[in-house]
Amino acid sequence: METILSGIRPTGNLHIGNYFGALKNFIRLQEEHNCYFFIADYHSLTTHPTPENLHESVKQVFAEYLAVGLDPEKATLYIQSDLPETIELYLFLNMNAYLGELQQCTSFKEKARQQANNINAGLLTYPTLMAADILIHRATKVPVGKDQQQHLEMTRDYAARFNRLYKVDFFPEPQAYNFGQQLVKVPGLDGSGKMGKSEGNAIYLVDQPEVIRKKVMRAVTDSGPTEMNQPKVEAVQNLFMLMGIASSPETLAFFEEEYNNCRIRYGDMKKQLAEDIITLLQPIRQKIEEMYRNSEYISRMVKLGREKARASAVPTINEVRRIIGFKSF
Ligand code: TRP
Repeated sequence: METILSGIRPTGNLHIGNYFGALKNFIRLQEEHNCYFFIADYHSLTTHPTPENLHESVKQVFAEYLAVGLDPEKATLYIQSDLPETIELYLFLNMNAYLGELQQCTSFKEKARQQANNINAGLLTYPTLMAADILIHRATKVPVGKDQQQHLEMTRDYAARFNRLYKVDFFPEPQAYNFGQQLVKVPGLDGSGKMGKSEGNAIYLVDQPEVIRKKVMRAVTDSGPTEMNQPKVEAVQNLFMLMGIASSPETLAFFEEEYNNCRIRYGDMKKQLAEDIITLLQPIRQKIEEMYRNSEYISRMVKLGREKARASAVPTINEVRRIIGFKSF
């Protein structure tokens, strides 16, 4: 059985891009594989959250994981900071990671530009922490987006380097898990690219109906088609894709027809789209709210996740210590 692992940083709520792009696939994967899904709260420290914020956002994402159908019995759902073994492995990997390659990493360069007054060492060693997350369970498949491919490559380098240095065949070289046809790319509302967390671009699973209406009505379009069957600009294409996800095939076909005959009124289309998204999210939002209020259940599931994660991490770190040469006196 393949060991699959993925993590999400607890920065903000999950949006429908996370849901259709990743979570729905995680829910399928947990049926057939040994899955670890965790909340990367250590990683979120690179941006210095307040203590209250840190705890609340971890709880929120954990509640969302549970509410959408990740099953703590089938998969291992845990919080990164519940697994200090990760940090020990991070330290070992850092001894074998070089300043040059860490500085070359695209995400580091980008973050350094974004937060020029806080280019901390944690930011620099973000990839070794991520490698530790993966290697601590000796995971072989990692479902992540394009933006994480370089980190995964670095993880393979560190795994191979460790094996070479100590002449062992201990760490597997993890590969990206490719969802292929099953991957739904959810576009954002700002006219270009996929749904992300930037302002006004994402619809969150917990957004209230009024918020969804406002966001959808503000979505970028163009001034409308002037010729029959005119190709769509990206922003308009995106709205149709969202409709393909949230609305019925008849509704989608109706607005396609309107567009192709130059009769489309984007206002009407957006109104319909907003209502269909609201209907789609309503039961999910209710479940999340219920789950969030059930602190006792969450706390039990967090403990279960910690136990299951440690059962896998402790043997790894013990073996790593032995390989490196730590011996008890
Ligand atoms: N870096 C990932 C992101 O920003 C989150 C993450 C941390 C992760 N550790 C991981 C993803 C390990 C996959 C595996 O999205």
